[in-house]
Amino acid sequence: MIIAPSLLASDFSRFGQEARRAARSGADWLHLDIMDGQFVPNISFGPAVVAAVRPHARNLFFDVHLMCGQPEILLEPFVKAGADLITVHVELGEKVPPLLWKIKSLGKKVGLAVNPPTAITAAQPYLDQIDLLLVMTVNPGFGGQSFIHECLPKIQQADAWRRGQKLNFHLEVDGGITNQTAAECARAGADAFVAGTSLFGARSLTTAVTKMRKIVCAADPALADLAVPLL
Ligand code: DX5
Ligand code: ZN
Repeated sequence: MIIAPSLLASDFSRFGQEARRAARSGADWLHLDIMDGQFVPNISFGPAVVAAVRPHARNLFFDVHLMCGQPEILLEPFVKAGADLITVHVELGEKVPPLLWKIKSLGKKVGLAVNPPTAITAAQPYLDQIDLLLVMTVNPGFGGQSFIHECLPKIQQADAWRRGQKLNFHLEVDGGITNQTAAECARAGADAFVAGTSLFGARSLTTAVTKMRKIVCAADPALADLAVPLL
């Protein structure tokens, strides 16, 4: 399984130290939430910040989540900044196929995100082209929101498609992930867990990551055997 602390919940005045804390915590990925003030009603940080953080967390896979209306202008800057995987939103409609192609052509892993009000069927045509499907479990834009339980059947459906078609994309959840909701998502089929508030907000990030991993393993023992991440 993948545990991915979200830098959005870290102390913005100390990104370097916070990234080092994540790098030492036993987490697998660092999740980077990019908000443009247009696709979502908030602004976070851009490629220059990601590039500055990169050297502080060399061992972590950089999982860049673009909540942006014009991701086409941001792909190359984020690749240069050190992204390993870039996720774009399925709500962008006809822009999606060229975006997926472009991310792949830049040599990076490809992610596709689905917002809570969007049917999971919107992602279905792309399942054989992606490395990660991100099922949003809050409406994107802000950290610290409550998990939306109505999203669980979407995870079950995506996992059923993945098994049925023998695909191996990661199934990631993002928003309101705590030890309890992570376990519910694991039972529904998720294998990658983004958590901001519940991890960076903990006194010890290392203890929080270890505990979440243990609880997720208990919820779905098959995830414990997944010693080698799919990516
Ligand atoms: C929501 C972001 C999330 C956010 C999760 O817009 O995509 O990644 O950081 O934060 P928590 O874990 O606090 O809900
Ligand atoms: Zn995110």
